[in-house]
Amino acid sequence: MMKRYVVSLAAMMSIVTAGAQTVTPQACEQSIVTPKAEGRYLWLPVQESAPEGKVQVIVSGSLQTEQNVRMARERVDYYVALDLLPYRDKGALRVCVQNVPTGSVCFSKLAQNDDAAFALIRERHRPLYHHTPERGWMNDPNGMFYKNGVWHLYYQYNPYGSMWGNMHWGHSSSADLIHWKDEGVALAPDVWGTMFSGSCVTLGERVVAMYTSSRPTPFGADVQAQCLAFSDDGGKTFSKYEGNPVLTGEEPDFRDPRPFWNEDIRAWNLILAVGQEMRIYSSPDLKAWTYESSFGRDFGSHGGVWECPDLFPLTSASGAKRWVLVCNINPGGPFGGSGTQYFVGQFDGHRFTVDNPDRYAGGKALWLDYGKDHYAAVSFCNAPDARRTMLAWMSNWQYANQVPTMQFRSANSIPRDLGLFEYQGDTYVASVPSGEMLSARGSKVRQPLEACEIVVDLKKHSEIVLSNPQGEQVVMRYDAVAQTFSMDRTKSGNVGFSADFPCATVAPTYGAVKQLRIFIDRCSVEVFDTDGKMAMTNLVFPSEPYNSLSVKGGKATIYEIK
Ligand code: FRU
Repeated sequence: MMKRYVVSLAAMMSIVTAGAQTVTPQACEQSIVTPKAEGRYLWLPVQESAPEGKVQVIVSGSLQTEQNVRMARERVDYYVALDLLPYRDKGALRVCVQNVPTGSVCFSKLAQNDDAAFALIRERHRPLYHHTPERGWMNDPNGMFYKNGVWHLYYQYNPYGSMWGNMHWGHSSSADLIHWKDEGVALAPDVWGTMFSGSCVTLGERVVAMYTSSRPTPFGADVQAQCLAFSDDGGKTFSKYEGNPVLTGEEPDFRDPRPFWNEDIRAWNLILAVGQEMRIYSSPDLKAWTYESSFGRDFGSHGGVWECPDLFPLTSASGAKRWVLVCNINPGGPFGGSGTQYFVGQFDGHRFTVDNPDRYAGGKALWLDYGKDHYAAVSFCNAPDARRTMLAWMSNWQYANQVPTMQFRSANSIPRDLGLFEYQGDTYVASVPSGEMLSARGSKVRQPLEACEIVVDLKKHSEIVLSNPQGEQVVMRYDAVAQTFSMDRTKSGNVGFSADFPCATVAPTYGAVKQLRIFIDRCSVEVFDTDGKMAMTNLVFPSEPYNSLSVKGGKATIYEIK
């Protein structure tokens, strides 16, 4: 206590000039930074092991925004940007930093400049062809839509650190579903709270986002409500609807809206995750919602909270139409933690019913992907050619905040197109890599690369081993008799950051698999039955790329990814 007083007294008497900003310590708990007149970005030094402090932007005495930042105390792990542009020329600009001791290194290491690429770290595990945020934390894909030849992808985003928090919607766009352009922040927190997951719909030239605002209160659980925002520039910028929120509830977990136009009832439907069920609503205008029904109490996995729903029709090869309800669940996934279950049935605009209740009885579930790192999977609105194209967040809440990357955390899966297949009288959802992945195929190569696709023609029993000179390996096995495919990552490299990470995952194959497509991208292995009956997505963190492949009981062809 005594020591702390002495430090703070010394600090109070000094004015520090860090990279030309002025830092005035007020007390140990609060320092005021006066940014320079030039330099768009104030670079905040972060130390991941530090507790969160508050960074507030104040213009002429009024609070503009505040974010939680793990400001560096002893060492700088990486920098995050505070964009000062919106606050320029509006009055006296101050940045107030709270709950960070005045002697912390962050104050002398602050930087300010116009260089968006300032202090970028080149990381060994950053994927080469999967979508990642340039800096900061990402979870769920949000609000994905296709319009005028462009795919839009929003995502749960913390621009101020590589761990979950300060939820914004980040935005990326792509002409080919594979190479993404960073479009910056699309939705930032407001008085109703932080920006949780949601979806977009297209209404002529207008794009409407429906999302959950999550607002902490000092009185107990956070309050979640559904809000709207409109974009008239193709999804680049949004204005929040002044009548927000449009749908409120009394449950603490009340979120992740997925609205869609339903021609059958000539109205909007909405599916919303509420606790451990999905609620269905209808509306003439996206603003006034009528409750229709709930689904799920007696079906599927209930090991955790139901999140990020989706509901859409698919047509089978024989022309039969089915509705598929997608339900992400955490925990309660097939191998612990997060997973994506689905239900096949009928939907009349009011109620969803499953075709065969036995398949979901007593906790049984069908999974869209039988790996451990496939979560928050939802589909694009308005995809061309009646496609149902989907992306998943490639991580698991058990260890998402600990995976060994720094400057950024998490990637999305490759895009997949969904369909239906029949097996022994039941209908299942098929998942194949989107056609765009074929265009990404480059020339044949002799050995695996850090970014490549391996096509394996299978025999009855096959063993596929990826390895590197460090003895790290990923072992995959196909068993035609048991009709299973498995992947073991227990010796895949760095597995020690979480006791939940080392594991083997197993998938049913619903009949024989003739060919596998295996996509490798530095820190992930995604495997598909070419016919779509099985998908498996797992993260791996080898200390150097797997450059050796051994295949028993099959024939492999390796392609680089362009
Ligand atoms: C799923 C989820 C959503 C929520 C979001 C918050 O991963 O928990 O239910 O909207 O993440 O970031």
